[in-house]
Amino acid sequence: MPRPNGSKAATAETVNGLRDSEQLGGQLVSTSTPASPRRRAAAPTVMPKRRRGRPTSDDHFQHAKSDGAQPRFLQIVAKPANQSKAKPHPKLTRVAFKVSRLMEFCTKRELQNQTGHGVEDWPLVVLKELMDNSLDGCEEAEVAPVIEIAVTSRSITIQDNGGGIAAETIKSILDYTIRVSSREAYVSSTRGAQGNALKTILAMGYVLDREREDGTNAEAAGITIIKTRGVEHRIEFRVDHVTNEPKITHTTKPSSIDVGTKITIKWPEMWGRDEFAELAESYVWFNPHLTLRGTWCGKRFVNATATNPTWKKWGPRDPTSAHWYDPTRLQRYLAAHVARDRDLGRHRTVREFISEFRGLSGTAIQRKVLEEVGCSHQSLAQFFGVDRVNRKGINKLLASMRKHTKPVAAKHLGIIGSDHLKQRFLAAGGNADTFKYEQRKEVTREGIPYIVEFAFGLHQSGLTQGTAIRRKFISGANWSVGINNPFRAFGSTGEGLESTLAKVRANASSPVICALHLASAYVQYADRGKSSIILTDDAEQPDD
Ligand SMILES: Nc1ncnc2c1ncn2[C@@H]1O[C@H](COP(=O)(O)OP(=O)(O)OP(=O)(O)O)[C@@H](O)[C@H]1O
Ligand SMILES: [Mg+2]
Repeated sequence: MPRPNGSKAATAETVNGLRDSEQLGGQLVSTSTPASPRRRAAAPTVMPKRRRGRPTSDDHFQHAKSDGAQPRFLQIVAKPANQSKAKPHPKLTRVAFKVSRLMEFCTKRELQNQTGHGVEDWPLVVLKELMDNSLDGCEEAEVAPVIEIAVTSRSITIQDNGGGIAAETIKSILDYTIRVSSREAYVSSTRGAQGNALKTILAMGYVLDREREDGTNAEAAGITIIKTRGVEHRIEFRVDHVTNEPKITHTTKPSSIDVGTKITIKWPEMWGRDEFAELAESYVWFNPHLTLRGTWCGKRFVNATATNPTWKKWGPRDPTSAHWYDPTRLQRYLAAHVARDRDLGRHRTVREFISEFRGLSGTAIQRKVLEEVGCSHQSLAQFFGVDRVNRKGINKLLASMRKHTKPVAAKHLGIIGSDHLKQRFLAAGGNADTFKYEQRKEVTREGIPYIVEFAFGLHQSGLTQGTAIRRKFISGANWSVGINNPFRAFGSTGEGLESTLAKVRANASSPVICALHLASAYVQYADRGKSSIILTDDAEQPDD
């Protein structure tokens, strides 16, 4: 059967042809054994011979050639002898330059990659990350959050009433070779999850300042002031231009702020108010316990009082559940403890480690688990493994902890609730009669609880024709708000939340107000900027 004449077919023929024939100097050499690369280079150039017997791909190849068409095979052209005397072209000898990984914090492009947002969104990134930290900090201190935002033409300040940041944590945040987080190794429903945000924020002011003179401002600096626990930390972020590594100056002096944290980021330019104000205000939708006030160049732009200051959700101080870990996550959590204990020179037993899990605080149940795994009285470091990780033991420990504890019901994560969302909906101009609220509580096959809450309704002016009001859409996970919709792959078709909303005529130009929130003990983000959530099959929204 004749082969098609397309280029793909020609390539296939050529590859087959090379199996039995070597092609040198633009000509074919027939061989009986596979040729080594060295033989190829040394073989003399002869005209191709036709093979006897059954036609093969080579025969097609030869026919094609004799048609007068251009040769359709890959040519490995040997250097003609007369060229060897020609003046050699200057050659570049490449060397492998070392580039510090820390450069990831020193350029606009790298910071955009890290945050998952373009430079125009950076003020929103600062707002979101500082709000998340403040809310987590307040919940860790077990107080109802009261947060103040103040924007001036050259800075953004966020102050909270949480437990403050330890001087030691601030010092570690300035070490760009490590990530520092009181959330990262634990699996739970906190907003912060990676120990990266403050590092990127400290660098943003520098990058923007440098850009001011076509990226050449040699004096560029990013200035951040953190007032907490009676100390004012002044952090100046610059870059060593040879090594491309952060060069940080950290000075301290006494401060009157001894409750919470007040953090000011100096910003070299002013930014747009509307999106910033909208994002700030969105936080009160997902946090019934939050009182939020904000001023923009001295004028109030947000003033919302908590609808329920005693509202309860799973807090950073609540024990995590063994059902939220898989062997990899448990190994990560164990390793973090072992490394920290080693740094601090402290000793911890497996019993102490497991006692911090939900349902494992009683000595009788601890004994059962330890006996089952065979690690009674063992130190955590020993159990973890000295030369190699004790994977078997870790798997056994996880299985036993899971066996002796119950999965956590989704309702314990915390429910925002219809009442709160309706209050926010009405305050945003929603029409009460059109308000709808849906909730879905589940535990995945793996034991991860989650709750999806969805509030929806028409804007009051949406009931009249020709309104200019556009959609207000708030989405987020674990009581944090997405800068853009973080549910990009959504539903069984994976087409994204936007197309699902378009189907129910709630696209961006519709006068509707909707809020979608996912609470989950384990949220996987696709990027460091936490801008896109990976939904597992279990956590997907059904098509209806
Ligand atoms: N306002 C605050 N109050 C109390 N602690 C804070 C505050 N801001 C930051 N921290 C501490 O600093 C750490 C680092 O914050 P950072 O935002 O860089 O990382 P993270 O919140 O752990 O994770 P992510 O990178 O996902 O935000 C936090 O884990 C927390 O321990
Ligand atoms: Mg954070």
